[in-house]
Amino acid sequence: MELQGSHAVVTGGASGIGAALVRRLAGAGVSRIVVADIDGDAAQAVAAEVGGLGLKVDVGHEEEIAGLVDSAEAVYGPVDLFCSNAGIAGPYGGPEVTDADWQRTWEINVMAHIWAARRLLPGMLERRSGHINSTASAAGLLANPGLMPYSVTKHAAVAVAEWLAITYGGPDSGVGFSCFCPQGVATPMLETWREEDPSSRLASASGDTISADEAAEALVRGIAEDRFLILSHAEVQTYMQRKVADNERWLGGMQRFQAQIDQARAEAAGS
Ligand SMILES: NC(=O)c1ccc[n+]([C@@H]2O[C@H](COP(=O)([O-])OP(=O)(O)OC[C@H]3O[C@@H](n4cnc5c(N)ncnc54)[C@H](O)[C@@H]3O)[C@@H](O)[C@H]2O)c1
Repeated sequence: MELQGSHAVVTGGASGIGAALVRRLAGAGVSRIVVADIDGDAAQAVAAEVGGLGLKVDVGHEEEIAGLVDSAEAVYGPVDLFCSNAGIAGPYGGPEVTDADWQRTWEINVMAHIWAARRLLPGMLERRSGHINSTASAAGLLANPGLMPYSVTKHAAVAVAEWLAITYGGPDSGVGFSCFCPQGVATPMLETWREEDPSSRLASASGDTISADEAAEALVRGIAEDRFLILSHAEVQTYMQRKVADNERWLGGMQRFQAQIDQARAEAAGS
């Protein structure tokens, strides 16, 4: 898509990948940027850097997403690019995680993307222009050890983006879709996870950890080039190919990996 002179909204834009994305978009010529985050002060600070608008928004509520789109359009006109970047890691664990934690992770990591599309699509399809981007994760393509709600909701986020692209992104629609699936990116989210769960270093050591700026650079390039699946880590493509080529072998490798993680957790608990 043409970024020069466009209007973009970035959720979760106050920190990490989102803040780097805001700066990269401004550098690529996006002239009207709305930074939305549950941390309103930090959103305003990042927005001020690019002469944009910072708003306090909790993407886990549909009315707040609708209000975000309405506010952005009232100030800057139709949204050209909407980036659903806000996300949470959710708790460590699996079926034992409480329903309340499952629900919150589901709303922020998945429903927020659906609510954004619900509000944006009628206008974009009528104008025959616009782009909806979502940040999922490599954990949405390849199951992630440790954090079941994260892996499940990120798989769903990939499915949401694919469904939207299949249904509304045909060659004549004028509307584009993209899904960003990074692996380790050095941000507060990754730092918190590493502090809270010592074995996470193993889980996230399966590839390089890149900077938020490097992630944002790959993301902006992918959006500008109208690519659907945007990867910032080449190894993710390799892992996907291995999984598709021999699922049983891939699962066996993941089970051995999980055994190493269990051992690291046991050692950390004992020390
Ligand atoms: N860091 C990684 O290694 C990594 C890897 C793959 C995918 N991702 C994804 O990238 C995205 C950005 O993550 P990050 O690493 O930059 O994390 P981060 O914690 O640095 O930033 C996330 C931002 O989202 C905001 N946020 C959280 N919940 C919100 C809500 N309900 N409403 C509005 N804003 C909310 C936070 O306040 C924060 O500013 C997330 O979707 C994450 O799942 C991160």
